[in-house]
Amino acid sequence: MDLNNRPVWLLPALSAAAALILGAVIVAVQLGARSEAGSGAAPMRVSGQAQIGGPFTLVNQDGETVTDADFRGQAMLIYFGFTYCPDICPTSLQVMNAALAQLPEDDRGAFQPLLISVDPERDTPELLAQYVDSPAFPEGLMGLTGTEEQVRAAARAYRVFYSRVDDDGVSTEYTVDHSSLVYLMGPDGSFVDVFPHNTTPDQMAARLQRFLEDNPVQS
Ligand code: NI
Repeated sequence: MDLNNRPVWLLPALSAAAALILGAVIVAVQLGARSEAGSGAAPMRVSGQAQIGGPFTLVNQDGETVTDADFRGQAMLIYFGFTYCPDICPTSLQVMNAALAQLPEDDRGAFQPLLISVDPERDTPELLAQYVDSPAFPEGLMGLTGTEEQVRAAARAYRVFYSRVDDDGVSTEYTVDHSSLVYLMGPDGSFVDVFPHNTTPDQMAARLQRFLEDNPVQS
């Protein structure tokens, strides 16, 4: 159909519709640009109480039951991962180590680094004990595992996704897809900051330093 064959009264309506569509496209592009700008590695400061974190009951590398309440008075640096992870988890724990190493030695103790396993079936306390002992990882890193239910509850509290990936569901040769985030939780257990996977040691150290300025170490 040719535009010239349309009634004359329809033409203004058509151009108005075209203008509306163009306007919607421009707004959509601007919104997209804004959300991309917001997802960079810039500090994610959340005002108010974010719904991240909460009570957990797990088992540490010495086979002792620990809860979130055991860490009150200390900030927690929490990473969810698993010892069989070939690269993502070790990299994240190395970044955490490098960031902590940039802080004055007296300040490092303000932070308790925690690895919470998303693979409780294979990550026994004994295996975690060997793993957290690696000199590449933060000193004092505590490994936490537990029953499937305990781990699921902890992951849910921290909005962490994980999913076992294997063909038959029986083999012990499987991997686990999981979120790769480091959470900074304050001495009262509340959410302070989250570091996405591409965070550099410098960026993490700067934000830990800022946290210490806001929350001076009691001595
Ligand atoms: Ni991993």
